Amino acid sequence: MAVPVESVLSGAPKGSGPLAVYRHAVASQRLLSDPAQAVAAERLQSLWQKLRHYDPPARLARKTLVGRFLRRKPVDEAPASHLHGLYLVGEVGRGKSMLMDMFFETAEVPRRRRIHFHAFMQETHRRIFAWRESNHDGHDPIPPLADQIAEEAILLCFDEFQINDIADAMILGRLFEALFERGVIVVATSNTAPDDLFRGQPGRDAFLPFIAILKQNLDVLVLEAAQDYRRSRPDTEDTWHVPLGAEARTALDEAFAQMTEGEAVAPVSLQVMGRTLPVVQASHGVARFSFNDLCARNLGAGDYLAIATHFHAVVLDDVPRLTPDNHNEARRFINLIDNLYDHRVKLVASAAAMPDQLYAEGDGAKAFERTASRLMEMRTEGYFELPHLT
Ligand SMILES: Nc1ncnc2c1ncn2[C@@H]1O[C@H](COP(=O)(O)OP(=O)(O)OP(=O)(O)O)[C@@H](O)[C@H]1O
Ligand SMILES: [Mg+2]
Repeated sequence: MAVPVESVLSGAPKGSGPLAVYRHAVASQRLLSDPAQAVAAERLQSLWQKLRHYDPPARLARKTLVGRFLRRKPVDEAPASHLHGLYLVGEVGRGKSMLMDMFFETAEVPRRRRIHFHAFMQETHRRIFAWRESNHDGHDPIPPLADQIAEEAILLCFDEFQINDIADAMILGRLFEALFERGVIVVATSNTAPDDLFRGQPGRDAFLPFIAILKQNLDVLVLEAAQDYRRSRPDTEDTWHVPLGAEARTALDEAFAQMTEGEAVAPVSLQVMGRTLPVVQASHGVARFSFNDLCARNLGAGDYLAIATHFHAVVLDDVPRLTPDNHNEARRFINLIDNLYDHRVKLVASAAAMPDQLYAEGDGAKAFERTASRLMEMRTEGYFELPHLT
């Protein structure tokens, strides 16, 4: 049973924390009871309790001499412990994001922010770049950046914590250390345990201190929920057409005609960061692409985001089975599906195999498990009923 978080949160008792919300959802049969989730909800509850009305003063700006001096003074401790949050790790579809959202929505912390970790990293690189553009004196950008982030939000909830990139790995250790020093509380969900982050990547040794900082500051909880809840509801929509061939093509032609309600199909252009992304077939908020249009060309997160916000449905032809040689296509497809899923875009596709069997081995095959799980959820009636998020 895949249940949209919005519906799980609604009707929960006001003024109580994530545990009451979770129990209420189970009692009202919107969620199946799961002992491992209940344990996680209890841990989140105790963090919730400690953080009630947590709002340490933002520190003085760095610009003045006094500000620089004050920076050296000890800062406010996080309440009642050295712990600065929780790292929730587990297999796909176990309810990590759902539990984090229950915590985030109920947290009585005035300055809080929930963000996809990937988006946070992009923003961080942009800010460092901007800081370097305007400060040519060679000063370290990390302390002012940490000040800025801590001023915006003292509680940061990161969905899908993952390190893919040496550029991220290099700044994260110092940035997180600075954030924890400033009393920032972090709650993260991830498919990867801290000890396995960035494993097997060149330059990992330089990254090890960051893992130590994470483990020192965050309580790591492995969520061993009973099942991938995205898969537990039989799919009711005829949205994933296997195998490839004339029959699948006809099914997609029909789906496209039905969703566009017979309106004229025409090309459109989307503007993405100063570039133009051509969409050859579109009508009525629905676009049709082939897998190669979107994943065999050098498109990136910005393009997929533009598609996901502009169209409420996508018809995707000819998703092939991917091999280790296709790891770039696989990476783009993961990114595409993450964007479509986050924006609740409806997907009808033809493919060489079921999602599970599309990319069994190769770089990023582990991350692809989440994609497969999401694709399964995207086939359900529950998903089709969700509104498009623009
Ligand atoms: N106990 C439950 N009963 C019914 N549905 C559930 C339960 N727990 C989670 N779900 C539903 O399962 C789906 C997947 O949950 P969620 O997105 O939180 O998983 P996740 O652990 O964050 O997965 P991923 O690692 O892929 O991000 C959601 O639609 C959620 O509402
Ligand atoms: Mg999640």
